[in-house]
Amino acid sequence: MDPTLLSLALPALSLSSLVAAGGLYALTRRYTARAWRELAQAEQDFALRLRAARIRPAQREESDPAVAWQGFRKFRVTRKVVEDQKRETASFYLTPLDGRRLPPYPPGAYLNLRVEIPEVGTETRSYSISGGFTPEYYRLSIKRVPGWTDSSGKEIPPGKVSNFVHDHVHEGSVVDVSAPNHCPHFVLDMESDAPVVLLGGGVGITPMICMWEEVVTRQPTRPVWLFYGVRGSAELMDAADEISALHSMLRQVGDDQRLWLCFSRVKPELDEAGKVIGLAGGESENDLHLCEQSRQQLVVGQQPRVVHHYGRVSIKDWIWDVLPPNFRDTAHFYTCGPGPFMKAIRVDCLAKGVPERRIHFEEFGADSHDALTDVVDTACEVVFSRGGRSKSAAWEGWRRDLQRLAKANEISIRGHCGVGACGECETPILSGRVQHTRDPLPYEPSPGCCLPCVAVPHPDCERLELQA
Ligand SMILES: Cc1cc2nc3c(=O)[nH]c(=O)nc-3n(C[C@H](O)[C@H](O)[C@H](O)COP(=O)(O)OP(=O)(O)OC[C@H]3O[C@@H](n4cnc5c(N)ncnc54)[C@H](O)[C@@H]3O)c2cc1C
Ligand code: FES
Repeated sequence: MDPTLLSLALPALSLSSLVAAGGLYALTRRYTARAWRELAQAEQDFALRLRAARIRPAQREESDPAVAWQGFRKFRVTRKVVEDQKRETASFYLTPLDGRRLPPYPPGAYLNLRVEIPEVGTETRSYSISGGFTPEYYRLSIKRVPGWTDSSGKEIPPGKVSNFVHDHVHEGSVVDVSAPNHCPHFVLDMESDAPVVLLGGGVGITPMICMWEEVVTRQPTRPVWLFYGVRGSAELMDAADEISALHSMLRQVGDDQRLWLCFSRVKPELDEAGKVIGLAGGESENDLHLCEQSRQQLVVGQQPRVVHHYGRVSIKDWIWDVLPPNFRDTAHFYTCGPGPFMKAIRVDCLAKGVPERRIHFEEFGADSHDALTDVVDTACEVVFSRGGRSKSAAWEGWRRDLQRLAKANEISIRGHCGVGACGECETPILSGRVQHTRDPLPYEPSPGCCLPCVAVPHPDCERLELQA
């Protein structure tokens, strides 16, 4: 028997015996909180093992099994680089403590990073790998999520993990890291030589850096154009720094490759001859410096390889017009960034006749997922049942997904990503049907289960019961 199946079958057996034992216990005696805690723990362990077996560790078949791993592995931060002048984004170079080689991953892959935050507990978040493959380390680039005040005056606290790693994870720190995983629709096909258009907004540049680096190092003749959108240059992964992510990209630009730096809040001031003499928009000095730098170093012949654009990243407004004809006909478009940014790119690409199969996007959180999906309104009673209690709620489309409906009804469903990527929210369906709002899913749930963070009741379903 396949050892993976065996390792799954054993806990499955013990789980069913536990379920049976739990049922009997409940019938014959007043069950205690401890018994149900143990049952919940066993279920959780089982779910973890299932996840480990079904998660898509990077190219598991091709990679040396000795270097792939399940669950979490200890990594040391061997280098930390603050990337931008605003000090909002930092890159972490992660080297495995056991010193063994790392498995390769397809460009576009992400890791789960687990940290122990004092007075908060263990928290896990997903982060795209922001560099081409090296067998020694993985690089993540993480942006701080600040606190803010919403329109009703409510104080929204700052992001837990992003701020913790900025403030407390330094060179020498040890963190837990999962094997790379990926969404099947958001990986760059390295067997193909089709042109590639990469469109990254803000921190959504991270998977694009990985794709860019892989193409320029492993397929140097493959045409690839990258459009990197920021408000001003203070947000750029600083090109002036020798070891920054953008600097390594700038050094690599080849003949068929273009790097467009797009500044949405900066406007050039031109002299009579059209020469840029200054920039309006808050960060002019730095922008001018960058502009001069690219002018001096990176214009080869008549072909500027690094181009500055003052305006938003927009297919409709200008990108379609500057793309070479072969790009329009055959290029694959990869995008990652805020929800409205990706939505506009998708809508514009479709309007230009780019088929859906050539448009790929990565979602960093529920907000971006919301922007890319429609509200599903349907009449359905949703029942959350567990351990003898059950709570019923009418489906409300505006809640967007079953995880949020559960939360609104004080039912807690685990899971940190909100986009079907971590698998932690996997929940058994006791009756009825759901539909997932993301296809394909980065994490494939087991038969009979769903991912509530990206699931809604199926339109044909009038009553849905989840084990939650
Ligand atoms: C596949 C994938 C790849 C990703 N790659 C990257 C990457 O390369 N780089 C990167 O920086 N990020 C990336 N992310 C996002 C990342 O996983 C985290 O979501 C991000 O770092 C925020 O985590 P946090 O713990 O700081 O915020 P959290 O604590 O999880 O908070 C999330 C949001 O909720 C708000 N919030 C917190 N509490 C409340 C409350 N009580 N009420 C209302 N709102 C609240 C916070 O202000 C914040 O805006 C990726 C996500 C996915 C799914
Ligand atoms: S919360 Fe990550 S898959 Fe649902």
